[in-house]
Amino acid sequence: MPGRVFITRPIPEPGPSLVARVAEVVTVSDEDRPLAVDELCDRVAGSDAVLSMLHDPVDSRVLDAAAGCKVFANMAVGFNNIDVGAATRRGILVTNTPGVLTEATADLTWALILAVARRVVDGDRAMRAGEFPGWGPMYMLGGDVAGRTLGLIGPGRIATAVAERAAGFRMRVLYRGRKDSPGLEALGARHVGLDELLGESDFVSLHVPLGPETTHLIDARALAMMKPSAYLINTSRGPVVDEDALVEALRAGRIAGAGLDVYEREPAMAPGLAGCKNAVLLPHLGSATTATRASMSRIAAENVVAVLEGRRPPNLVNPDAWRGPPARSS
Ligand code: DGY
Repeated sequence: MPGRVFITRPIPEPGPSLVARVAEVVTVSDEDRPLAVDELCDRVAGSDAVLSMLHDPVDSRVLDAAAGCKVFANMAVGFNNIDVGAATRRGILVTNTPGVLTEATADLTWALILAVARRVVDGDRAMRAGEFPGWGPMYMLGGDVAGRTLGLIGPGRIATAVAERAAGFRMRVLYRGRKDSPGLEALGARHVGLDELLGESDFVSLHVPLGPETTHLIDARALAMMKPSAYLINTSRGPVVDEDALVEALRAGRIAGAGLDVYEREPAMAPGLAGCKNAVLLPHLGSATTATRASMSRIAAENVVAVLEGRRPPNLVNPDAWRGPPARSS
């Protein structure tokens, strides 16, 4: 049986069992925390496959330490933590887990939209603190959701699932992407430029992968273009937003609020963000349902198994690194 596999953090089943059916040795990190780069380098050495997490910084150093490794199978749809170019140059395959976390992430996006607009967390906090003075005509007013305009930045699967849910709220949906999205168009969404989307939307929701073009896509300029009554929602990747600029905008009331699941320097937050009462802050829970995490574990494992068996993995993100199945010895 071919292969030694390293799993960088304990993960739910069925991934470990699926891998164990074909691999010679499966080692799971016994630390339930992100490994530091030095630790990662030590642990990946000698592996034929690594099942990695979105917080593992798989850079040239780690890839060199993993010399001989055939695949880094990331248990996430995002793979910005992996230097894909460096992996491709070394002939190392990179895979991800698309599709299975779409619905869970879209649900959480909606949880943030409703929570920040209708002050769900504020209200809960007030009740627990015994601060509810009784119903008041001007007490804890929020923003409307139904019938408002939702601006989706990024035209992919998650944005489309968010737009599907918006139909129930009879919202006008705008989106911005490189090209038209047939899925979003079929839902009645309109493709617009970034500035128009920022200026017209009551909710701006981010669904782009992280890369050089999307880093700080939402900066002080973009925030200034939003309506003072608008909300920013981010369930994509933290560095898409300039978090210091966001804190300033929230403090100054330049926008009405923000619902965030991801952070620029995760797990840390920008100074001052925790003090912004007009922000709802979640700890990267987009895909955090029991069933979704099990599906992500399964898909990451299926990618590992395919590579160990000499097959092209189903969710290959760097096809240039695929050299075909190994030649059979006669
Ligand atoms: C992903 O898979 O990229 C998500 O952020 C996980 O929650």
